Amino acid sequence: MNSAEGTTLRGKVAVITGAGRGIGRAIALAYAKAGADVVCSARSGREIDETVALITAQGGRAIAITSDVTNYESVEALFSGAVQAFDGVDIVLANAGVGTVTGTVEHSDPKRWKEVIDVNLVGAFHTARAAIPHLRRSGAGKLILMGSGLRQRPNANLSAYGCSKAGMWLLTQTLALELLDANISVNELIPGPVRTAMTDFGDKCQFNEEWLKEPEDVVPLALFLASQPDVGPSAQSFSLMRRA
Ligand SMILES: NC(=O)c1ccc[n+]([C@@H]2O[C@H](COP(=O)([O-])OP(=O)(O)OC[C@H]3O[C@@H](n4cnc5c(N)ncnc54)[C@H](OP(=O)(O)O)[C@@H]3O)[C@@H](O)[C@H]2O)c1
Repeated sequence: MNSAEGTTLRGKVAVITGAGRGIGRAIALAYAKAGADVVCSARSGREIDETVALITAQGGRAIAITSDVTNYESVEALFSGAVQAFDGVDIVLANAGVGTVTGTVEHSDPKRWKEVIDVNLVGAFHTARAAIPHLRRSGAGKLILMGSGLRQRPNANLSAYGCSKAGMWLLTQTLALELLDANISVNELIPGPVRTAMTDFGDKCQFNEEWLKEPEDVVPLALFLASQPDVGPSAQSFSLMRRA
């Protein structure tokens, strides 16, 4: 069983970046199933419209708002749209990301390297920055940053990705410290390898013996983090990895 039966997010509003496919879509469907109103965001309108259609088909409530997390004004507009539609924000999943293999540092294209940092790290900062005033207004909230196990060890050819996720982990802890008094919990979710468009490397297996998941396998932990009490764990990293 993949969903955490009995978890309720009724009365909560969740904003999810990168909700058009993969892990973000699976979590959007699960949060809606648990009763949350869900705002699905990504750059591709077609993909988030599909996520919303799937949620509506299962009896949930959701809207799609296109946004590019590298553009702060666009992320601010996402949160204004969410509040306009559902009257507040309680749960934010900063999930939008790219997994570009940039090559060795020596051979990487500086522009592509910076793009990874811009989407993953600056995008998460933009998302948190734009969300915080709305979470404060709600009196409590959950901010979940989608991390990666690749942040904790060097990986040849993936320096931009690893550095972006290492930065996101420090951002998670810093936000948690800054928002402790506002009952806004900030935690990192590390999914471990998941079969998505990002990890579609054809025949080449990059993950050795690690548990290769489907996006739905990330759902129970995402529900757990979204449904903790107002005074609950913060500045913590929760991982679905099965090895150090
Ligand atoms: N799959 C894994 O094994 C794995 C492991 C560890 C961590 N993660 C993390 O999990 C998250 C989701 O990854 P995934 O595997 O589900 O990848 P995915 O299937 O490629 O989905 C990525 C999502 O992010 C959106 N996105 C990308 N750039 C964006 C931008 N500039 N602004 C707004 N949205 C943007 C994409 O939509 P558009 O392109 O339409 O914008 C898409 O909806 C990422 O943060 C990734 O680093 C994944």
